[in-house]
Amino acid sequence: MAKRPNQTFVCQACGAVYQRWKGRCDACGGWNTVVEETGAAAVPSGPVSTRPLRKSGRVFPLTGLSGPVEQAPRLTTGIGEFDRVTGGGLVEGSVILLGGDPGIGKSTLLMQASAAMARGGNRVVYISGEEAVSQIRLRAERLGLTDAPVELAAETNVEDIIATLGDGAPPALVIIDSIQTMWTETVESAPGTVTQVRGSAHSLIRFAKTKGAAVILVGHVTKDGQIAGPRVVEHMVDAVVSFEGDAAQHFRILRSVKNRFGATDEIGVFEMGDMGLREVANPSELFLSGRDMATPGTAVFAGMEGTRPLLVEVQALVSPTSFGTPRRAVVGWDQNRLNMVIAVLEARGGLRLGSHDVYLNVAGGLRIGEPAADLAAAAALASSLSGVPLPPETVYFGEIGLSGAIRPVAHADTRLKEAAKLGFSAAVAPRTKSGPGDATVLPVQVVDQITTLIAEIVVKNKTRTAHSPKL
Ligand code: TYD
Ligand code: MG
Repeated sequence: MAKRPNQTFVCQACGAVYQRWKGRCDACGGWNTVVEETGAAAVPSGPVSTRPLRKSGRVFPLTGLSGPVEQAPRLTTGIGEFDRVTGGGLVEGSVILLGGDPGIGKSTLLMQASAAMARGGNRVVYISGEEAVSQIRLRAERLGLTDAPVELAAETNVEDIIATLGDGAPPALVIIDSIQTMWTETVESAPGTVTQVRGSAHSLIRFAKTKGAAVILVGHVTKDGQIAGPRVVEHMVDAVVSFEGDAAQHFRILRSVKNRFGATDEIGVFEMGDMGLREVANPSELFLSGRDMATPGTAVFAGMEGTRPLLVEVQALVSPTSFGTPRRAVVGWDQNRLNMVIAVLEARGGLRLGSHDVYLNVAGGLRIGEPAADLAAAAALASSLSGVPLPPETVYFGEIGLSGAIRPVAHADTRLKEAAKLGFSAAVAPRTKSGPGDATVLPVQVVDQITTLIAEIVVKNKTRTAHSPKL
């Protein structure tokens, strides 16, 4: 077949462009994600204009900009958990991409945020390419938000949207739900393809920058590659926020992945109920509720999410394997980290796990990324193997090195304070630079070596359990 001139093949997952069709994308490894697109070359990749070139005089020395540096003005929604993740509110003219699985609650969250902002006297426009206005109204009714003066529109053409937004005062906030349903006339490809998604995002970003409106783009995370994933616009926007959660659970976590105007790694915790999303002001309480304290193999990890301490339960199950190769399964933590902790427990701590299956789970559907969880995982594993429950009122944190040494971690004080606030009475942690002296709120049991930890758990607790069976 003769190749048509304007014909290209674009991976819908990562945006890689090919001259001919491929079953598997070389760039991202996705199967069946490469789709034919016409006119991909016509993506507005910047003006190819014939206007006269501007000369210098438009560069400024960083040091020469005198006067106080202006803080970017921020619009707060009044939903504390949402504002925290955006770094203290939405910056004027900024564009945020909100990604998440379909059905996780993105539209619900944004409806609540828009209503809160509109009630505060800001012009908010909610544009849905997925639902009719009556459906959005129905949702707003369910959420008890019908009194909020949010402007609704069901529209998918970007040029029309920008024309609509141009009427009246410039909006403070525009929600585009979702970017994958939008199409622009400047590009020939079908809606949902990489080229369309990029072209539409490009126009909306230009609108945000010129009019000073904050724009939130919703992006569905897709696994089958039939529609372009939000990754293809991640580099164009100012902030990327993802909305995560287990469909079977009620909690939802809003996580900042990229933020030009604030810290990343901040999380906001919500609970999905009949009346929409409710903020969870004290997530530690939520993640520790329903804790079974008498069972061996559970340890409470005093972790940090961004600037906020978060206590979660780490559960381990170690049982003799019935197959040749023991199984190692982990939920909510890194598999390689688990393998490393197991190896250190064996090589430096003398525990025998080679003929045991090991399962590790972080309760509540949370994902931990911190190495500080090593110590809690090790304690849970040692406790499960020895059948000795850990003292229920103790928290654990610390990083384990390959030598078996327990290394200090950041924010020890914040972790200890949170633990004390939630009624814990002791902590097992590495020595900090200032010594155990900064344990102003909780007595800290300092452990320097993995062997100390194991001796603590197995020997000391055995005697404690013998004397006080109710512990
Ligand atoms: P939605 O916001 O439509 O998800 P998304 O925009 O990410 O696709 O939320 C869909 C789910 O949320 C749906 O399964 C029902 C549930 N839900 C509630 O449990 N309570 C509520 O008050 C609302 C509005 C939705
Ligand atoms: Mg939706």
